[in-house]
Amino acid sequence: MPTPVEDIKARIDIVDFIGESLPLKQAGNNWKGKCPFHNEKSPSFMVSRERGSWHCFGCGEGGDIFTFVEKQEGLDFPEALRLLAKRAGVQLREYNAEEQTQRTKVLDVLRWVSRYYQEVFRKAADAEPAREYLQKRQVNETSLEDFGVGYAPAAWDSTFQALKKKGFSDDDIFQAGLTIRKDRGAGFYDRFRNRIMFPIQDVHGTVVGFSGRVLDALVDPKGPVPAKYINSPQTIVYDKGNILYGLDKAKQAIKKADKAVIVEGQMDCLMSHQAGVNNVVASSGTALTAEHVSLLKRFTTNLVLSFDQDAAGAQAALRGVDQALMAKMSVRIVRLTQGKDPDELIKNDLPAWQKAIDSAQPLMEYYVQEATAGKDLQSVDDKKAVVKFLLPIIGKLGDPVERSHYLQQLADMVHVERDALQQSLDAQAPKRQASTTQPVPVKQKTEAIADLRVDRFRAVSERLVALFVHEPSLLDRFASGFDPAVLVGQDLQTLYKTLIIWYSVNHFSTRHALADAASSLDPEQQELFTLLTLLGDHEYPDGITPSVEHDILTMIVAMKRRSLSLELHRLEADIRRLEQSGGANASQLSELLANVQTVTDQLRTLE
Ligand code: UTP
Ligand code: MN
Repeated sequence: MPTPVEDIKARIDIVDFIGESLPLKQAGNNWKGKCPFHNEKSPSFMVSRERGSWHCFGCGEGGDIFTFVEKQEGLDFPEALRLLAKRAGVQLREYNAEEQTQRTKVLDVLRWVSRYYQEVFRKAADAEPAREYLQKRQVNETSLEDFGVGYAPAAWDSTFQALKKKGFSDDDIFQAGLTIRKDRGAGFYDRFRNRIMFPIQDVHGTVVGFSGRVLDALVDPKGPVPAKYINSPQTIVYDKGNILYGLDKAKQAIKKADKAVIVEGQMDCLMSHQAGVNNVVASSGTALTAEHVSLLKRFTTNLVLSFDQDAAGAQAALRGVDQALMAKMSVRIVRLTQGKDPDELIKNDLPAWQKAIDSAQPLMEYYVQEATAGKDLQSVDDKKAVVKFLLPIIGKLGDPVERSHYLQQLADMVHVERDALQQSLDAQAPKRQASTTQPVPVKQKTEAIADLRVDRFRAVSERLVALFVHEPSLLDRFASGFDPAVLVGQDLQTLYKTLIIWYSVNHFSTRHALADAASSLDPEQQELFTLLTLLGDHEYPDGITPSVEHDILTMIVAMKRRSLSLELHRLEADIRRLEQSGGANASQLSELLANVQTVTDQLRTLE
């Protein structure tokens, strides 16, 4: 019987899976795309369907479908296992019940209670006002279903009791954020009572918390005003700083439109989706965080922030916008001119909502407008005020080109030397300065360069062997003039020798035959082999052209030269040591010198 891990790997195609979150193009037998784990312009992220693995030649990360999910979603292995098992339809429980961490228990509670709230919403008699309320707000059946809208009964502990009856422990229910400890004595009561329940789902649609809205109809005008929304507290699975409401439903549309619209309210998000504008998520009234930004950056680098009409709306929408600027996201803003929020606008004039998104204003333009409104740019005081407003914002732009562009624009606008502005910008941002211009201590620097050199030759060595893996017949022409010892790394030398043996014994002519043979390698060598297979496809997607053959010769010469230079250094060091020790042995010395001559001659033949 396969282990769950093997089973999942067999059932989920890694190319399809990874292809859902980033575009992949075929390259040889493998697939290629832009690495989601570092910023890059040209694709160096490779996926092998055959081997179920991926590797990025830009940042060096790699692994299988599990490590991909772990890295991309920030999960640990059991969580990734659970997620992929769900997707693959593989039952985990029987294999590893002990892997149920606290996190997964809490997720179980949340999944169950979400269905419970929906049941209550649909069927319970006392949920009638909730149903009426949402109907009045024109939320349709499909939206209720898609967004999993529910209702929390108007009782102190109905939900708690229902969960207990289902077998969940007091502690797991509490950890899920669903109950509040009673002040006096032991026991718990429900956090969410008599509220319309919006499940908060992560990017995969897993319920991680709730936001419960009060029913306007039931608010006692004479009593204290309850909070409009009550939200899940921070729990082991929920942190409002890394959740965007609706992202699970919006992500495909965001990718397609290459644009994400961020609204404030859950209702705004839901109604926009209902109206068919699907690339919309809600920040749920919190400031944008770096986590939010990196969540979105997987799907697009273009953000549109929607402000509610009032000044508070603008302020709220712009909280955290720094995070997006620093991440080099392009930010535009929508100011609603009709209706107080998107929900209202959508109901009154749907095309206007789409139009508002399409014609959103670049953020910097908006700031310039704000800064200069009512200002006299001839007056020194006003100039100062404008600079004071804009300069810090410009300093936050993560893109140096943009930074420079807006700095110039500001200089032109206030008729001040650009250098003067640059200086005060530098003074404002001591951190940015320090990190880029601080001199590296000399010793560290030379070490770093030496490391780089090793890396560079290691890279050349890998490319060479990758070529032989890619096209074994190259060994015919090149192997004889090429000593394995010049390769950097014992592991590469070993693999290269194995390749030569296989080739000379079996004359493998196809990569498939080679790949079959590779399955007999020990795990480390197998890993290296896979890496080289991916590297070959990455570097030589068009196969072995004459220019590639020329490259091979160049690489071999470079490797030989390096190896000979190292030998020369060693000999010179030996000679120096011998001379310094005083008792210079004449025959030893002349032998070393003869060797130096040989190596030097060999080096010369390479020129
Ligand atoms: P809004 O008041 O704009 O909410 O607050 P909304 O979604 O438009 O709701 P309706 O249309 O009045 O029904 C924006 C967001 O701020 C959070 C919620 O996430 C809400 O969606 N919020 C608001 C709270 O967390 N608590 C509150 O008391 C109010
Ligand atoms: Mn609203």
